[in-house]
Parts: sequence; structure tokens; C-alpha cells
Amino acid sequence: MNIVVIGAQWGDEGKGKIVDFLAEDADLVVRFSGGANAGHTIVNEGVTYKLHLIPSGIVYPDKKVVLGSGMVIDPEALFKELQIIEDQGIAWQQRVLISDRAHIVMPEYKKIDKEMDKKRRNPIGTTGRGIGVTYSMKANRDGIRIGDISNEAFLDTLRQDEKQFLAPYIEKLRAMSVNITYLMELYKEKKVLFEGAQGILLDLDVGTYPFVSSGYSASAGAALGGGIGPTDIDKVFGVFKAYSTRVGNGPFPSEFKTERDGNLEDIIREIGREYGVTTGRPRRCGYLDLVALKYACLTNSITSLVMTHIDVYDEMDEISVCVAYDINGKETIEFPSTTYELDRAKPVLKRFKGWKTVLSSIKDYDALPEPAKNYIEFIEDYTGTPVGIVSVGYERKETMMRIPLWKK
Ligand code: GDP
Ligand code: IMO
Ligand code: MG
Repeated sequence: MNIVVIGAQWGDEGKGKIVDFLAEDADLVVRFSGGANAGHTIVNEGVTYKLHLIPSGIVYPDKKVVLGSGMVIDPEALFKELQIIEDQGIAWQQRVLISDRAHIVMPEYKKIDKEMDKKRRNPIGTTGRGIGVTYSMKANRDGIRIGDISNEAFLDTLRQDEKQFLAPYIEKLRAMSVNITYLMELYKEKKVLFEGAQGILLDLDVGTYPFVSSGYSASAGAALGGGIGPTDIDKVFGVFKAYSTRVGNGPFPSEFKTERDGNLEDIIREIGREYGVTTGRPRRCGYLDLVALKYACLTNSITSLVMTHIDVYDEMDEISVCVAYDINGKETIEFPSTTYELDRAKPVLKRFKGWKTVLSSIKDYDALPEPAKNYIEFIEDYTGTPVGIVSVGYERKETMMRIPLWKK
């Protein structure tokens, strides 16, 4: 059975936490997109793991994980990250596989990434990890793949500095590389989790272009980037925060505004610890945007939503949520495709009563206070999609399941 976990907003929704939680009974975890631009946090029994390239199943000692074909991999960052988790007590050898179709991020791509962003008509605020440049090289059919570097004839086509950079990694990467299609064939009857990166609004096609990343964050990417076909996907979980955040530039219709919302952004940023895992940048914060969330459900066949960070609202008297956009005096519930329209979209807000209760110790959905359940049930009605998992804190155990997981 194949379950895909994607971010349903602009990234940092808590995908790492949720994949780690769900991975307990999984046989394999496959990351299908992105690179070291991602930062996925796992907290278990007070120990924090910050992963950028390694799939979130790695914390369990018996799980194998795969870096899929849709990923772009910086070998330097990869082996640094493996060293960090090894120092944290994780034995990773023989457990990390890499698709031989995944692309390699070369040092100069990172430099070009930073320089290019400054020169753009509309700088995106990239993470500077060389992501866009590597995917461009891939689309330009001039990239370097994991499978290529074992081939002497291919290496001969590289410059001396490129060969020198790759030399210490060639043997190590060769030992980890795998033809993912046939690996996935072996796991056909097993429980496989596909871990997305970024969020659907950062997807190259369905996101808020041009303020997006360059990989596929949408669920369809799990097939191409994870070594299976599209009809092999059984379930799609869309992770979203009880509010919204965005790092970097680009439209954000429900962003908190001082004139309207006072210091709500500072409050949410501090309670929610909204600082980027990869760059440390403060995250922009705003109301939950249901126009965008319904769009995420429609574009990704989300079978179940996963709500995180609801505990961040514990102290609030009142909570608002964006239910429509006002664009130049016209109300719409459709998510526009252009920055021009999104920049003009003002959120139409609906208010809810707060619950004024600490949620983190609640283990069962039925035990949640009524106002919290009202908030969740409104989201389900609006999006036409059930909220199957609710996360009430960053610890693995602070999670409630409302659905059977590995049942079709
Ligand atoms: P990802 O990129 O989607 O994996 O998310 P990040 O790890 O970048 O950011 C999510 C942050 O929220 C991390 O610091 C998590 O530890 C934390 N987190 C995850 N779920 C919850 C939750 O339900 N409540 C709170 N308060 N924090 C959470
Ligand atoms: P996870 O997997 C949040 C943002 C960057 C920038 C834009 C393009 O942790 O959710 P890039 O370096 O990819 O070319 O940057 O996308 N971005 C993310 N924002 N979470 C992420 O990943 C992100 N990965 C990229 O801030 O605005
Ligand atoms: Mg993140």
C-alpha cells in the first residue's frame, strides 16, 4: 500500500513530524522531491532531529529509506547530514538508498542560485542551495545524475574541478544507488510512505508561480519521483497548519497585517517557533486560508487532511479563518493563478470562538473542547475532505489518529 504525505500550504506544515509518526508501521519511506532546501523536524522524547535530504523514517533503527529520482542531491550536504545523525546515535549504514536517476547539485550551482536570485525581476528569496539551477540543468538535459558518476566515460566529460569535487563521494554514492523501479516492485505488497518536500503552493506547476521552488511538491510527483505509477497511489495526506506560514517572497493573501491584526504575527511566530529550519529566517504568518486549502485538495486528490499546530491557538479568545478573497471588490472562492490577482486578494474572514484549553495532552479527538472541534469540522465541510489526523504538539506522541492507516 502506498501513502503519500505532502505539504498542503507553503511548506513547513509539519511533514517531517507526521511522516515520522506514521512510519512506525511502514516498511519503507521514500522522499520524492526537493533537496537541501527542505528542513524536516522530528522530535521524539525530547530529542530533536533536523533532516534536509534524508527521509523521516531514518529515526527508527529498522527502517530503510530512499532518496527518490525526483530529488536533487548535494553530496557534501548529504554526508554532513549523515554524520550529524550518526553523532546523534542513528546507525544509517545499509539503510539509505538513492535512486540512480536523482540529480547532483554541484558547488557552482549554489553560487549561481544566489547570484541569479538577486538579478531576477522578482527575487524569490531562494534558500541558496542550488535547487533551481540543478532542476534547470535537468530540464536542459545537461545535468549530472547519481548513476552517471560511476561511468568513467561520463566522468571524462567533466571539468577537472567537477571531478575533484565528486571524487570523494563516488564510491559511497555507488554503494547506496539503486534502480528505484525494481526496488518498488519488491515493495508492491508492503507499506510504503512517500514523503513530499516544500508545499503544493511552492510546486512549479500548481504553486504561486514564479514564487515557487523548482521541484514537484504535488502528490503527482510521488509517482514520477518515487518510482511508481500514478494509479499505485492509494492515499494522499495533505498536511496543513491551523494557520498559514510562508518563507521567502511571494503572494500571501491571508498574511497578518499590523493595521488589521495588531501584533498577531509576533505572537504566533513566538508560540509556534516560526523560524526556518534551513535558513533560520523568520517565517511570515497569517490566517488559515481555506480558499488555498480547498485548491490543494482539488489539485492533489487529498484523501485526508492532517492538521498540525492547532495547539498554537490554545490561548486565543477568538480565531479567524479566510473563507473567500475580495479581489478588486469582487468576492471569489477560487484560487487565482496569477501573482497580479493574488497580490490584490484581501481575505474575507470568518470568526470562531477560541477554546482556551491546553490541547497537547489530549489523546483522543472526542476529548477535544467543542470550539476546537467546531473549527476542525468547519474546515472539513469547506474543503469536502476529512481531517484524519490532528497534531497538538511537536512531539511524536502528541498526535491523534481518527482513521485506520494501512487499510484501503
Ligand atoms: P516540515 O518542513 O513540513 O517538515 O516542517 P518543519 O519541520 O520545517 O516545521 C514544522 C515545525 O513545527 C517544527 O519545528 C516541528 O517540530 C513543529 N511542529 C510540528 N507539528 C507541530 C504541532 O502540531 N504543534 C506545534 N506547536 N509544533 C509542531
Ligand atoms: P520544507 O520541505 C518552506 C521556499 C524558499 C523560497 C522558495 C524557493 O521544509 O517544507 P528554493 O531554494 O527552493 O529555490 O527556494 O521556496 N522554500 C521553502 N519554504 N519550506 C520548504 O521546505 C521550502 N523549500 C523552499 O524560502 O521562497
Ligand atoms: Mg521545513
